[in-house]
Amino acid sequence: MSKLFLRKPIHLLHSEAGEGSQLKRTLGVWNLIALGIGAIIGAGLFVRTAAAAGEAAGSAVTISFLIAAIGCAFAGLCYAEFASMLPIAGSAYTYAYATMGELFAWIIGWALILEYALGAATVSIAWSEYLNNLLGGKIPYEWCHSPFESATINGQLVHGIINLPALVILGALTLLLIRGTSESAFVNALMVIVKVAIVLGFIFIGWKFINPENHTPYMIPEGAEPLKLPNGKEYSYAPAFHHGWLGVLRGAAIVFFAFIGFDAVSTAAQEAKNPKRDMPIGILVSLVICTILYVLFAHVLTGVAPYREFMTAGKEASVTYAVKQYMTGYAWLGDSINVAILAGFSSVILVMLMGQSRVFFSMSKDGLLPGAFSEVHPKYHTPYKSNLILLLFVGLFAAFVPGSLAGDLTSVGTLFAFVLVSAGVLIMRKTEPDLHRPFKTPLVPLVPILGILVCMVMIFSLDYFTLSTAAVWLLIGLLVYFGYSVRHSRLRAHHLK
Ligand code: ALA
Repeated sequence: MSKLFLRKPIHLLHSEAGEGSQLKRTLGVWNLIALGIGAIIGAGLFVRTAAAAGEAAGSAVTISFLIAAIGCAFAGLCYAEFASMLPIAGSAYTYAYATMGELFAWIIGWALILEYALGAATVSIAWSEYLNNLLGGKIPYEWCHSPFESATINGQLVHGIINLPALVILGALTLLLIRGTSESAFVNALMVIVKVAIVLGFIFIGWKFINPENHTPYMIPEGAEPLKLPNGKEYSYAPAFHHGWLGVLRGAAIVFFAFIGFDAVSTAAQEAKNPKRDMPIGILVSLVICTILYVLFAHVLTGVAPYREFMTAGKEASVTYAVKQYMTGYAWLGDSINVAILAGFSSVILVMLMGQSRVFFSMSKDGLLPGAFSEVHPKYHTPYKSNLILLLFVGLFAAFVPGSLAGDLTSVGTLFAFVLVSAGVLIMRKTEPDLHRPFKTPLVPLVPILGILVCMVMIFSLDYFTLSTAAVWLLIGLLVYFGYSVRHSRLRAHHLK
């Protein structure tokens, strides 16, 4: 039984990182910051900001962003300590192996599949929607929707067959990842420049179009008039979480998705040139830059258009709607935003796929997953088999499952990882107090404890269906662990000798 909680000795981790580094150290600090921003700015900003403002927070969605950012900052500070101390591929999985033992490491590795693989699938489905939007709806419905979706088009009920555009973008990005890490980082940096430029453009140009009346009152008042939704139903602002401070909190849970991904930086630790210094910088600086951009963007968006319209006329492609409706003379900005969104989504998918393959790489090196996941391409030095298997798994999901199912599951996996990483810092300070920590989480134990609490609250504010699906996923994970991994674990084999 106690073997379930075998911990991986730190010296072993370090020596493996040296020995196992067929992965090349090519990433500098700017690459890491760009990877962070690459994974962070995406559907969360461009889609969920307007949704959170319209449903619950009003203009105070800016405060929602700050609350979600503070929650992420606690976890981010804990990630930074680990990433500087154990700069090894695998992120939260590796940290758990060193602190809480093999079973916990397995569980967290399994949960990270929800974050990265499912996250990539969700965003690729959103990518397909936006591409179709940009092409004026020219892709036939059947070929860009899953079989579980249907719609009435020209009076006829049409069912989806397969989401081809989602598959195409996943395939293209997988090939890029196989081609090389520095090549991927370069393309990622280009996409980051495009999306940040458009976000800044929107903030600067939009600032002139802010109508102070849209910001008054800043939060949704209790007595706000109900809305008539496009589907004919009524939406009331009277319930507790639909107005005031509680509405702002609900808004924070909705926009949390926008921050997912900063931790992906830590998965690339084994490919960083100077991980001890650059890992904490990569994680924390990308988090800070994105928070500033998010708050400004949300302030302008809710100043340009009244939040109520994000539930009605401007419910779809809300940012483009705000520009075209209210920013006279800047229609081109609306189209550029669509391009930025496609670039933004692509870089999110890219970094998520990369993060997942690096977690698999570590799990496979440890024997918990088959060896194919850590085979490195002789020429490109990337875990190409892992990338291809991942394409199959994520592709099946993206092609045949509706996007709405996956978003909240991505959040559960992420929050769960945040809880374990925060707990890991507390444990490691007790078990390995003298270990060299190039970056130290401040105010321990307060920061990790707050990290655990905030993330637990967010987990349990998710709906029952999401939580029970996550529980089923965990059970499947345990079956795989006891069916395969315990018999192949390198650490166990070492202890049995
Ligand atoms: N943070 C990423 C996004 O918003 C997942 O798309």
